[in-house]
Amino acid sequence: MQCFIFLGIILLYLNIGAALKVGTSLAWIEHTPQPYAIKNFYKGSSSASLTSGGVANLATDKSFDLAANAETQGLKQYASHRNIRLIYIICEVAYRIVADGSKGIKSLADLKGKKIGSIQGTSANVFVDMMMKNVDRFIDCALIVTDVCMKAPCASNTLPQQLKSGAIDAFGIWEPAVELGAQALGQNAVLFQNASIYREVYALYSTTDVLNDPNKRKDVVEFVRALNKTLDVFTNEPEKAGIYDFVAKAVGMDAPVVKAVWGDHKWSGRWDAKELVEFLVKEDAYLATMDKRTPIPRTELEKFLDTSVLDEL
Ligand SMILES: *[C@@H]1O[C@H](CO)[C@@H](O)[C@H](O)[C@H]1NC(C)=O
Ligand SMILES: *[C@@H]1O[C@H](CO)[C@@H](O)[C@H](O)[C@H]1NC(C)=O
Repeated sequence: MQCFIFLGIILLYLNIGAALKVGTSLAWIEHTPQPYAIKNFYKGSSSASLTSGGVANLATDKSFDLAANAETQGLKQYASHRNIRLIYIICEVAYRIVADGSKGIKSLADLKGKKIGSIQGTSANVFVDMMMKNVDRFIDCALIVTDVCMKAPCASNTLPQQLKSGAIDAFGIWEPAVELGAQALGQNAVLFQNASIYREVYALYSTTDVLNDPNKRKDVVEFVRALNKTLDVFTNEPEKAGIYDFVAKAVGMDAPVVKAVWGDHKWSGRWDAKELVEFLVKEDAYLATMDKRTPIPRTELEKFLDTSVLDEL
């Protein structure tokens, strides 16, 4: 008996066998490689568990080892918590804006003076703003904040119902809400997408504290290894491996809708450091203005991107 207790204390002290705790949204398609990886490939020293949350958890709660979130939330947290590291890209999504063509909207410029739905302070808000500013720096259109719906039938106060009822003229947000909006409008749906202006970079984050702990780090490497195997399946055999059903079930969507938006999801893994730093410098400058803080220096953004776990696979 004493022996077991003693062993238990040593294991606790060495941090061996403690479950890996990951903060992530559980409602988005982007997060689903994580449950798939845990179920099919993860071989860490103990289990890994997903807790509803995101990169903000890493900043405030030491019980979290990893978190997944869009780069927008990553930058917002990194601005004041420089121990956070982006270690893997799970998914990149070129968001879309869906507009009601019956209101005379053919191009983004036609959205001048119109009401566009999105959710404030999110990557989708950044996307809509950047798309509009790219058309005209001074374009005037109202951002209407609404709830998002990911599975039909959708309530009347949500995207996409607000577009269908005519309460708003367009909206831009993550999938599959835009797909549902396009389906609701049928032939009147007009879609805008431009990955070179904005794409969501949905990434996996950790902290230098976790990465510097040799036992934790081993499990983090195993988790990324399992994710990397998952992305291969998601990219190359989604139909054969039953991924549309798996994803639909995991996030409470319909499998045909998941399949319809699959092509907008790029399961990336590694990144081009030069390109991504440029992208982040630009987005951070925008966020710094919105959040009334100083921009993160480029050299600090270079430190934010950490390929060391990937290099260990
Ligand atoms: C995307 O935006 C860039 C920058 O304004 C522009 O050069 C390009 O033509 C756009 N692509 C599409 C498909 O609209
Ligand atoms: C990650 O997966 C990709 C795609 O299957 C593969 O090409 C790459 O070698 C893997 N990376 C590592 C470090 O294992």
